[in-house]
Amino acid sequence: MIVITTPTGAIGHQVLANVIGSGEKIRVIARDASKIPGSIRQRVEIIEGSHGDADVVNKAFDGADCIFWLVPPDFQATSLEQAYVGFSRPAAEAIKQHSVKRVVIVSAIGRDWPGNAGYVSASVAMDKLIESTGVSCRVLTMPGFMDNTLRQVQPIKNQGMFFGTRDPESKDPYCATRDIAAVAAKWLLDRSWTGQEDVPVLGPEDISCNDMAQILSDVLGKPVRYQQISFEALRSQISGQGATDAMAQGMVDMMIAKNKGLDHAVARTPEGTTPTSFRQWCEEELKPAVLN
Ligand SMILES: NC(=O)c1ccc[n+]([C@@H]2O[C@H](COP(=O)([O-])OP(=O)(O)OC[C@H]3O[C@@H](n4cnc5c(N)ncnc54)[C@H](OP(=O)(O)O)[C@@H]3O)[C@@H](O)[C@H]2O)c1
Repeated sequence: MIVITTPTGAIGHQVLANVIGSGEKIRVIARDASKIPGSIRQRVEIIEGSHGDADVVNKAFDGADCIFWLVPPDFQATSLEQAYVGFSRPAAEAIKQHSVKRVVIVSAIGRDWPGNAGYVSASVAMDKLIESTGVSCRVLTMPGFMDNTLRQVQPIKNQGMFFGTRDPESKDPYCATRDIAAVAAKWLLDRSWTGQEDVPVLGPEDISCNDMAQILSDVLGKPVRYQQISFEALRSQISGQGATDAMAQGMVDMMIAKNKGLDHAVARTPEGTTPTSFRQWCEEELKPAVLN
C-alpha cells in the first residue's frame, strides 16, 4: 500500500493522479476530505487530519509499504526547525514503529551547502531525520519551481512585470511540479529499490529571469519584463503576507544562497533532466491563469 500526504497540494494531487490507476492500494492523509474530487475519493482510503499529528500518522502508516512525504509550507511557524523537522518528527517515529519500507521525500537542492540556506537547510535537516530511521528513501532534490510564477499572475496581467531577487542574467535550473510528481510516482510504484539516495529533478535547461520574461512575452503576446528587488523588499513582502519573522528570514536566507549558486550544487545529468520546458509550462499553465 502507498500512502500519499498532501493529496490536495500542487505536487501531491498530481502524484495521486499518477498512481491511482496503478492497481496499488492507495491511502491518503487529508485535513479536509471534501477537497479531494469525488471521483478520486471513492478510489482511495482517506485518513482525515494533519500528517504532522502523531495519531494521524500512526493510523495512516499501519500496513504501508511506501510513503510520499511532503512538508507543507507554514508561514506561521515559530522556527524553521519546527516547520520542517518538528512537523516530521511524529512521522519519523511512525515509520520506525510500523516498519515502513520506503519513503519518497520532497526536498530541495542543498544537502552539502556549506552555509545557511534558510528553508533549504531546514528541509535537508528533515531529510536527515527521516534517513536516521534507517528506512529506504529517495530524496527528490529540486531547484525553484516554475509553478511559483503563478503567484505573480496579477502583476504579469496588470503591470506586464514579474519580480524576484535573482540576478536577471543568472541562468539557473527550474522544474515543473508535474515533472516532480511524475518522478515521485515512478519511485512510489517501483518496489525493487533499497538504500538512501538523492534524486535531482532539474527541469530541461538552465534559464535566466530575463529569458523567462522573453518567453512570457512570446506566450502572452505582450511585453513582460523582470524586475529584480532587494532582499529587504522580499522580507517586507513575505511579512506582509503574515509570515513570522523566522519564516521571513528563512526565505531571505534561502534566496541569498540561491544567488550564490545553491541551485547549481548538483551537476545536471541526463537522469536529473526532466522534460517540461518553461515555454511549455507557460503555454499550458500560466497562460490560462493570466487569461482567466
Ligand atoms: N516552491 C519551491 O520553489 C520549492 C522548491 C523546493 C522544494 N519545495 C518544497 O515543496 C513543498 C511544497 O510543495 P507544494 O508546492 O506541493 O505545496 P502546496 O501546493 O502549498 O500544498 C500544501 C499541501 O499541504 C497541505 N497542508 C497545509 N498545511 C498543512 C498542515 N498544517 N498539516 C497538514 N497538511 C497541510 C495542504 O492541504 P490543505 O488542502 O489541507 O490546505 C496542501 O495539500 C515544501 O516542502 C517546500 O519546501 C518548494
